[in-house]
Parts: sequence; C-alpha cells; structure tokens
Amino acid sequence: MFKDELKVKTEEVEKIIYSYLPKDIDFQQTVVDAMIYSVEAGGKRLRPLLIQETYRLFGGKKDICKPFMAAMEFIHTYSLIHDDLPAMDNDDMRRGKPTTHIKFGEAMAVLAGDGLLNYGFETALSVFEKYPGNECAEKALIYLARSSGIFGMVGGQTVDVETDSTGVITKDKLDFVYDLKTGALLLASMHIGALLAGAGEKELFCIDEIAKKVGLAFQIQDDILDVTSTTEELGKPVGSDDKNNKATYVTFEGIDKAKEDVRRLSTEAVELLDSLEFKNEFLRNLIVYLIDRNN
Ligand code: IPE
Ligand code: IPE
Ligand code: MG
Ligand code: MG
Ligand code: MG
Repeated sequence: MFKDELKVKTEEVEKIIYSYLPKDIDFQQTVVDAMIYSVEAGGKRLRPLLIQETYRLFGGKKDICKPFMAAMEFIHTYSLIHDDLPAMDNDDMRRGKPTTHIKFGEAMAVLAGDGLLNYGFETALSVFEKYPGNECAEKALIYLARSSGIFGMVGGQTVDVETDSTGVITKDKLDFVYDLKTGALLLASMHIGALLAGAGEKELFCIDEIAKKVGLAFQIQDDILDVTSTTEELGKPVGSDDKNNKATYVTFEGIDKAKEDVRRLSTEAVELLDSLEFKNEFLRNLIVYLIDRNN
C-alpha cells in the first residue's frame, strides 16, 4: 500500500534530517531549542522526499542528496516560523503544536528562523566535506540559494503579505505569488534531486515542468484546505487566509475551479513524468496522492 510506504519513507527522511540538527551548544541554547522544536514538530517532509525520490528517479544511489534534504527542510521550517509571526499571518498553531513564537516568544522565533535559514546553508555546504569540488553539488547550492530568496520564496511572500489589507489582487500578481512563495522551494527540491543525480538538460527541463505543476497544485490545495478542513486535521488553524483578508486562488477562481485545477495540474504532472525514460513508481504515487491530501 502506498500509504504504508509513505509512512516508512517519511520516517527514514526524518532520521536523515535529525542527524543534521545542531549539537555542542553553549549559551545560545534557547535559540537552538526553538529551532529543534520547530523541526521536530513534524510535517509531511514533502520537500526532502521530493529531493530523494527525484534523485533516485535519475539513478542516484549515493548519499550526496542527504545534506540537501536536511537543508531544504530547515529552510522550509524557517519560512513557516516567520509566516506564522504576528507581523505576517499571526497564527498560533503549526504542525499540531503551538507556533514557535507562542512557545518561545517573538524575538526567539525571529532568531530561530534566521538560525534555521543560515544553518540550512551550513548543512548544504557540508556536502563538500565528503564531495570536495563536486560540480553537481555546486549547481544544486546555487539553485537552493536563489529559490529561497527574493527571486524565490521571500519574493512570493512579499507580494502575498502586500495583498492582505485589501484582499484584491491581479491575475499576474496571483501567478507570481504562487510561482514563488511555495512553488520555488518545491521546484528546487525536484531540480536539486535531478541535478545531483547528473540528469541532462532535457530531463531537467521536463522535471522543472513537472515540479511547477506540482507546486501550483500543492498551494491551491493548501488554500482549499484552509476553507474546507478542520484545525485538528491540518495541525494549523483553518480560516487563516480569510482572517487575513487574503486573496488566494480560491477567492480568485472559486472553490470548484480550484479543485478542478488541482486535479488537472496533477494529472498533467503525472503524464509528463510518464513520458520520461526513467521511472520511479513511488514518486508517481506521491504526486497522485497530493491531489486528495487532507493536511
Ligand atoms: C506549508 O507547507 C506551507 C505551504 C507552502 C503551503 P507544508 O504543507 O509542506 O507544511 P509541512 O511541512 O507539512 O508542515
Ligand atoms: C505560506 O503560505 C508559504 C510559505 C512560504 C511559508 P501559507 O501562509 O498559505 O502557508 P500556511 O497555510 O500558513 O502553511
Ligand atoms: Mg502566509
Ligand atoms: Mg500562513
Ligand atoms: Mg495556507
């Protein structure tokens, strides 16, 4: 069963992430506690899973993807800590637990986010201890850096918060937000997995097309769940977007069109994946599973 396989793989991925958590702490213990609290709170671990499975899709068999898997989850977790702050979405629950600023206070949550962002890059850079001068790893790092910043997640979050007060947005800006705030790190995950496995230009292009569709479908589904799910099931407050008067795909296109588009985009992503010579049944099932995910 796919669900059993997903559970096993998620636990394996979690072990890899945890093995990179910081040790040997001095007076900065509090910020490290806040970082570890946020990482260990849980989550689907989708991005590191995508790195690993895309790496395997293209025949990768080594452990070169491991530091990137941990780094990606650290950077993603930082984005969530900051996204939940009172200055942003002002949410008090994440991954089924009190958000980092509720548990540790705002100052420590800001620092835990900063710490995780920087530590994410420290972790990714540690790849060169074992693979000095590895060109695939160099390319992967450049991609990770760009996807996290103003040309990626931070850029998308910027426009996202700017729409808060009005709830009004143009289609161009909506597309921009979706490409970047969520799409960039999901695209980077699949792209990095492919790069590290030595995928060629043609394969990279195809994987990018797949990942863009997966990323867009993933955030639309997140918006749908914000309206249709429960806080228990999500592990984060439902109605957050409405509370913040946020323009989302659902408010823009309506819920029926949103649901239809999640299905269409995911089906297109799977068709593209099937068009490749390389096969990974688990990755295929994972993309299908995301359409109907309930958290
Ligand atoms: C939440 O990401 C923020 C979005 C980009 C929608 P996830 O839904 O992957 O959150 P976790 O990692 O499972 O908690
Ligand atoms: C945030 O989108 C995406 C990030 C870059 C963190 P949301 O604000 O919709 O994410 P959730 O719903 O709080 O997880
Ligand atoms: Mg947000
Ligand atoms: Mg949010
Ligand atoms: Mg959301």
